[in-house]
Amino acid sequence: MKTESSVSRAGWTNQRALLLSAIFVVAACTESDAPVSAGLPGQAIPTLSDGNRGRFLLGRALFERIATQEEGLGPLYNQDRCSSCHDSPTVGGGSSASVRVLKATRFVDGRCDLLEEFGGDNIQLRVTELFAAHGFGPEGIPPEATDSGYVTAPSLFGLGLIEAIPDSALLSIADPEDRDGDGISGRLPRTADGRSARFGRKGDAASVEDFVESALRFELGFTTPRHPEEEGRNGVPVPQVVDPMPDPEIDAETLGLLSDYVRFLGAPAPEHLADGPAADSVSQGEVLFDQVGCTRCHRPELRTGNAEEPALRNQVVRLYSDLLLHDFGNSEGDLCGLDAAPGEFRTAPLWGLRYREHFLHDGSVMDLGEAIDRHSGEAILARVRFRVLSLQAQAMVLRFLRSL
Ligand code: HEC
Ligand code: HEC
Repeated sequence: MKTESSVSRAGWTNQRALLLSAIFVVAACTESDAPVSAGLPGQAIPTLSDGNRGRFLLGRALFERIATQEEGLGPLYNQDRCSSCHDSPTVGGGSSASVRVLKATRFVDGRCDLLEEFGGDNIQLRVTELFAAHGFGPEGIPPEATDSGYVTAPSLFGLGLIEAIPDSALLSIADPEDRDGDGISGRLPRTADGRSARFGRKGDAASVEDFVESALRFELGFTTPRHPEEEGRNGVPVPQVVDPMPDPEIDAETLGLLSDYVRFLGAPAPEHLADGPAADSVSQGEVLFDQVGCTRCHRPELRTGNAEEPALRNQVVRLYSDLLLHDFGNSEGDLCGLDAAPGEFRTAPLWGLRYREHFLHDGSVMDLGEAIDRHSGEAILARVRFRVLSLQAQAMVLRFLRSL
């Protein structure tokens, strides 16, 4: 494929070659790109402007590109390309059940420690050949950790739209003190520098670019302009000889292209149903989903505000989430997050649910009904109300969920 090979030759860091290939790819696409059909997972937002469509394609080639140790992969890493984890049902999606990331955190006196001095919460399970040749193995769970567990990769579809929802919209539905007394107290978590954090399963990144940067660092082991120092192995610095690439191994342009790819991935469209029994069951299921209280957290829609890219501006986003943190119960043995206690999770957006084969942050549940049964904490009332519905009504809710 033209797009991919031109970027492959350019490498991760050779900026000029990348820009040249950008021009080449944009030119190639305007000629040959078939019209983008709306709603197919993995494609760009259909109305994306031409310049950004070129950036999307370049970013996608980087996303799928296998990185090597000569380019800066590792020395510690989890996978050698983004799409190794984000590939279900297609590139840009979530992970299949077998691909999970191991994390460890320390939660003491109500405070979360991401164990940065011991190598961070992300435990890297692979090493480069060069690192292994010097006798080093992967990271282990630091003894200082109070908990460890697995996290699966969520789908990245529609993340630019999520980014463009103004804080004010989220704050207006947050209810940290539960003033309305409904047992549900969503709150908007904050990063260390006080920005709101709506990305990550525990709300720990403020923007798409911040998350992409941390994925480059912790999943692939690249150094970046903001973090030019190589991560240690469980916090112990690695010798220069095992990591010969000059730092930072990623430049700002590469980070920008990858971020734009993620930002411009289109939102998943719900299943299209012609009038008939299936459509009736889905629409009744949606009414019941609201009546039992699922929409208290899984808000059917939010609106974007202003955004540089017109395709992201003033859009209705049908994500089925409030993007807030909630106590989900079952907190025993769970990881904590930057501003999240064990047991607290961001409401999982339900759009694109029909493409998922496993559910919840750790992918431990394969059955949709069981995913609902695992709701506890603030969601207990909704779960109980769902389970007292007639079996037929419950089936309609499940049918509705499978149409998303
Ligand atoms: C080893 C598997 C793995 C690889 C490789 C990987 N990711 Fe992820 N990704 C994850 C996991 C797991 C999460 C969820 C982490 C969390 O929320 O705690 C995630 C979450 C994300 C999110 C946030 C999604 C959201 O809904 O908030 C973005 C953006 C992202 N990844 C982008 C990337 C990019 C870009 C790359 C390549 C540089 C990449 N990922 C490589 C596993 C991976
Ligand atoms: C108090 C807020 C809250 C309420 C009410 C709630 N949920 Fe959830 N839901 C969550 C959170 C938080 C998660 C993510 C949990 C995790 O990541 O492990 C979630 C996850 C899910 C998932 C799994 C999605 C995935 O991709 O893994 C499904 C399905 C789901 N909810 C359906 C429902 C249904 C149906 C109802 C009503 C019976 C409901 N939820 C009520 C907060 C809520």
